[in-house]
Amino acid sequence: MSATLTDKVVTIEHSSGATAKVALFGATVISWDTNGTEHLFVSKQAILDGSKAIRGGIPLVFPIFGTKPQISLPQHGFARNSYWDYLGILTENEKEVSVRFALKDNQLTKEQRQAWPHSFRLVYTVTLTAKSLKTYLTVKNEDSDTMEFNTLLHTYFRVKNIADVSVEGLQNYTYADKVLSGATDVENRDKITISSEVDRVYQNVKDHLELNLGDGNKIAIDKSGMKDTVVWNPWIEKAKGMGDFGDEEYKEMICVETGSVAQWVRMEAGQSWTGGQTLTLV
Ligand code: BG6
Repeated sequence: MSATLTDKVVTIEHSSGATAKVALFGATVISWDTNGTEHLFVSKQAILDGSKAIRGGIPLVFPIFGTKPQISLPQHGFARNSYWDYLGILTENEKEVSVRFALKDNQLTKEQRQAWPHSFRLVYTVTLTAKSLKTYLTVKNEDSDTMEFNTLLHTYFRVKNIADVSVEGLQNYTYADKVLSGATDVENRDKITISSEVDRVYQNVKDHLELNLGDGNKIAIDKSGMKDTVVWNPWIEKAKGMGDFGDEEYKEMICVETGSVAQWVRMEAGQSWTGGQTLTLV
């Protein structure tokens, strides 16, 4: 069991042989491997030099989801485009290895601080066990004013064939369909399958979902403190339009993203908030 920092990537190793890798750029988890099987998708065309958010893994969306007309930050905010501090190992025992990363407002550019003028501290904890990966974010409002944010664990799962994959547990929840300009509807399927572009924000969903990989394996997605789930696959045309994503890679991935994005999370001065997810092989 260990965690080592090399070339701006922290590699976490569990005694079971499970490993995870976290890039300091964005505190982006870029690999989660058990028994030689990679569970996260990272595009072959992902840009890994810190000039663009990493296309895959678990980019951390904060403090805005998408774009907001009143806040001049790039899509999905600055957290995924910033170098985080590595705080080191938090726990290391037979059961788990846990490491932490931090980002403070004084690490942002002048333009970013002007666009979102709040004093804050983020601490991101990544915990690896034999069969699970936990990613939890704590936000501390260090301002004397109220602060509002959105956040999302933009998780790219690797799949063998998108045609066989389904997301289970979202039936009867309201979603905003970004493919249809945000029109809302209620999900009537118990298993959500993907056969065209999908970009939906399911709101106020229950804390336990399952991703059926269609190859005999499932990943349980258990969230806490976060309300919403985004399901995204760019499909054929959008895939072609993304410079850091292969034309055919939409067949090998699905994003099931845990977050609080449909409404602002509001924090009073001095308050802390924690939310995150546990991904477990079942
Ligand atoms: C999803 C959004 O979370 O992220 C989509 O719902 C968006 O609308 C996708 O296209 C990818 O965003 P980006 O900025 O990483 O290309």
